[in-house]
Amino acid sequence: MSLPATTRAIAVYPDHPGAVHRTEIPVPQVGPTGVLVQTIRVGVCGTDREIIHGALGTSPPGSRELVIGHEVLGRVVAVGDQVHDLLAGDLVSATVRRPDGCPACVAGQPDMCIAGDYEERGIVRQHGFMTEYWVEDRAWIVPVPKHLESTGVLIEPLTVVEKAVRQVDLIQERMAWWQPSTVVVLGAGPIGILGTLLLRARGIDVTTVARTPQPNPAASIVEQAGATYVSSREVSLDALRNQRGNIDIVLECSGASTLAFEGMHLLGANGVLVLLSLTDAGRMLEVDAGRINTGIVAGNKTVVGSVNAGHEDFAQAVDDLGRFESLWPGLLNRMFTERLAFDDDVTSIARKDARGIKTLIEFDQTR
Ligand code: BGC
Repeated sequence: MSLPATTRAIAVYPDHPGAVHRTEIPVPQVGPTGVLVQTIRVGVCGTDREIIHGALGTSPPGSRELVIGHEVLGRVVAVGDQVHDLLAGDLVSATVRRPDGCPACVAGQPDMCIAGDYEERGIVRQHGFMTEYWVEDRAWIVPVPKHLESTGVLIEPLTVVEKAVRQVDLIQERMAWWQPSTVVVLGAGPIGILGTLLLRARGIDVTTVARTPQPNPAASIVEQAGATYVSSREVSLDALRNQRGNIDIVLECSGASTLAFEGMHLLGANGVLVLLSLTDAGRMLEVDAGRINTGIVAGNKTVVGSVNAGHEDFAQAVDDLGRFESLWPGLLNRMFTERLAFDDDVTSIARKDARGIKTLIEFDQTR
């Protein structure tokens, strides 16, 4: 097959935020360890919208544009001559972050980078995957089994909560006895829903809190997985704390910085609060520092931030997506509330539909 020289893509101008546009970019050469991939679909996430609105995002050196998109499922088209474990037609995804030379990156954990000079596909100095074809080094390719063809685009967002829960497990190695039985997930966007499913799959009692009252699509998904959905307009977090007893884990994925502090107060003794929302500076808040501080100290509580994910999280996400599908057949597909083709009005992705969960850009339809 003759390899494509250029590829259509969806990009932003980081210097002129506010809109996305269609563009065409060259397809990089496939080096000896490279993999050329044809995109099936790409998920749109909150980070993409922040890039569109100019809160983050840097274009690659020498380019005014940044192709966005970092939640991808694609099919291998061709591989370099040193790649022996992938064949044309295999399904793949890819990790997001590429290391700099800092000791944490060199040790194999770019998701724990300390220098901050990392690159991220679709976010920082590397084009993303909202493009018909892309090339990536085998080192960053994640093989995806065929049975995940319809849901595999959720692997990357699932890795965010896989890493979060792995952090909790690592932190709780401090405990001689710890049996998490009660979790509160703050936020019912894609990350909140996937976190809910992950903890439900472990048999833990999960309460997922979000603003929108029921009925709504997110509430129906979390309830079908056996979690309890609570609207924060109807039940205060203080009331929830009194009802739920000792809360072992709080996952904060609402996107609201103020909830980090609410989460500290919600958390029970020996518990872990994981903060997952990247939020803008400038949101000022008056807090009862005395109460929060004493609660954390006297309760041996831990507050941890978590971003991005490592290879082990991608491997675990591949396993868990399959597990979710057998536990709750068809449930994950209900997260896909909108499917756009490349030729549709993709500028609409800049706006979040309040009741929508995950928008997908379907590239297969453009062939
Ligand atoms: C991605 C992460 C990335 C982060 C910050 C998130 O949307 O899932 O992989 O590290 O944005 O750039």
